[in-house]
Amino acid sequence: MNQGFDVKNKTALVTGANRGIGRAIVESLVHHGAVKVYAAVRTLESAELLRRSFPDIIQPLKINLQQSETIQLAAQQAQDVELVVNNAGVLTDTAVLDDQAVEALRFEFETNVLGLLQMAQAFSPALIKHRGALVQVNSVASIRAVPFIATYSASKAAAYSITQSLWQQLSEQGVSVVSVHPGPISTDMADQAGISNAAEPPAVVAEGIITALKAAQFHLFPDSLAQKVGEYYTSYAESVIENK
Ligand SMILES: NC(=O)c1ccc[n+]([C@@H]2O[C@H](COP(=O)([O-])OP(=O)(O)OC[C@H]3O[C@@H](n4cnc5c(N)ncnc54)[C@H](OP(=O)(O)O)[C@@H]3O)[C@@H](O)[C@H]2O)c1
Repeated sequence: MNQGFDVKNKTALVTGANRGIGRAIVESLVHHGAVKVYAAVRTLESAELLRRSFPDIIQPLKINLQQSETIQLAAQQAQDVELVVNNAGVLTDTAVLDDQAVEALRFEFETNVLGLLQMAQAFSPALIKHRGALVQVNSVASIRAVPFIATYSASKAAAYSITQSLWQQLSEQGVSVVSVHPGPISTDMADQAGISNAAEPPAVVAEGIITALKAAQFHLFPDSLAQKVGEYYTSYAESVIENK
């Protein structure tokens, strides 16, 4: 079971912090009183705007989810972290019978699944020590496959499965875990997937995370499309996954 977690006065780390949902999460953390935020990015220059906006709070840190050595090094450098938000992810527009489906699935698994696994392994000692929290940005596509982004959906389903196991194991050691399931959110990724017309602002996800952490929720369905999925899914999730 999760504990209520207030981000005020906490030290946090967000992957994919430089744009899209990750950037909005950093801004919400700052707004709600986090004292230090490691902006984890692939290239340090991409965190420069954030650092200039909040110079006393933002600490840029290199993490490329496809390079495990960057994850290991970051975990050594950020041992004071109390909240890790693994937000970074990749999407290809690949249907299941497309020629490049095997290659696309491999690429998406490497970042979206193996990236999460390695982040959790590297940062668990600090989170356990601080009785902190881990937030994983999954998708509604974790629950319901979307055929035109089939390989991405499969990677997000696998990430959701790992998130459930992390929740079971880490919550026994005092670490709260949140699985976030957005629908279309207005970012470069939504443009790429051609779902921008139905998209809601990234702040909806970011503010939802702050609230879910406080409320000790495991599942979060932040935007209106996600909430519709959540309406059907929640009773199943509460009895089968959360054992409530
Ligand atoms: N937008 C949506 O509709 C939507 C819906 C449901 C779930 N999500 C999930 O929300 C998360 C954020 O998505 P977004 O829409 O904000 O995407 P985005 O606008 O495409 O941004 C992706 C972020 O991930 C980073 N990233 C990509 N590959 C990485 C790697 N190997 N290592 C570290 N960072 C990497 C990018 O860094 P660079 O700038 O260096 O490329 C960027 O900061 C993802 O996990 C996505 O699957 C998005």
